[in-house]
Amino acid sequence: MESHLDSISKPNEKEENENEFEKSFKEMISTLPKGNCWGIYKYLCQYQGFWLHPSFLRGVVSAQQQFQAQPTDIILCSVPKAGTTWLKSLTFATITRTSYNDSTTPLLFKVPHDIVPFMELHHAQFFTNRDRGIPLLSTHVPYSSLPRSIIESGCKIVYICRDPKDSFVSLYHFIARILISRNAQPLGLYEAFELFCEGESFYGPYWDHVLGYWKASVEHPGRILFLKYEDMSDDTEFYVKKIAEFVGYPFSSEEQKNGVIERIVKMSSFEKLSNLEVNKTGVYGTPKTGFVENNTYFRKGKVGDWKNCLTAEMAAQLDQITMQKLSGSSLSL
Ligand code: A3P
Repeated sequence: MESHLDSISKPNEKEENENEFEKSFKEMISTLPKGNCWGIYKYLCQYQGFWLHPSFLRGVVSAQQQFQAQPTDIILCSVPKAGTTWLKSLTFATITRTSYNDSTTPLLFKVPHDIVPFMELHHAQFFTNRDRGIPLLSTHVPYSSLPRSIIESGCKIVYICRDPKDSFVSLYHFIARILISRNAQPLGLYEAFELFCEGESFYGPYWDHVLGYWKASVEHPGRILFLKYEDMSDDTEFYVKKIAEFVGYPFSSEEQKNGVIERIVKMSSFEKLSNLEVNKTGVYGTPKTGFVENNTYFRKGKVGDWKNCLTAEMAAQLDQITMQKLSGSSLSL
């Protein structure tokens, strides 16, 4: 007969599955090529053609194996430092506009990343804690590595990208700020630049990430909305309207007349979000990936800030790579 102690010492089915997953994950990761992690960890791993941080990779593999997308899901996808935080805020405010107003929206109390979870960070919670009332999820996973269920469910995907010069500068400062807050020495600008150009950056190569979603959006325009940070900065209201229509929450003419779109744009603006107490003092993350101060997600929020950081030669080098990589795609950045 099984004693009480036996049942305590034996792992249950969930623990066994987790142990099994960890074992095969460790085996798999040991076979992957390793790259420079910009000083933030020991290494990046090259998985299915892209460079990933091992903790994020664990989430990607787990999501690929288990994540079940619903047709009603809205997946906000982005290449890092392209405006993920902004897109999360705008989309959340748009689809919850009848549940909350400007003084009750959770955006006032939580960083957008705590409101719209990252698939590869919070994958484990999805199966138990997912709030089906808010069908928003986000990910940096490249299109070709998305869990099959996302493609097969036909759910909506909104992707944002940005001029690689601004994304690089943003990423460089983001990593440097994290390292400085941990009393560690950031990588030199030029070293980081070389790695970025070689494609060795978080979820890089940058251009392959963008092209994957671009090609998919050309093939499936009803399923994937492709956005650029620069266009959104130019005319945010226009793009909020576009996003709302695309994800199935269009604004009525009454709402448009009453300034609902303007209010959403204002609520999600860089000025508003970056000055909220939670975004000035809070932290975001998990014990496995580490914590990041929320203010790290808000730096300048400007188009063309690369001019203050890159030399003319560096800018020309990045433009040249962009031109080569995107040639024949009909996409320009
Ligand atoms: P900069 O570093 O150029 O300022 P992500 O959200 O994908 O991590 O991207 C971060 C970039 O978006 C940062 O760019 C950040 O300042 C900018 N950003 C954050 N919130 C924004 C907002 N509400 N409006 C416009 N840009 C925003």
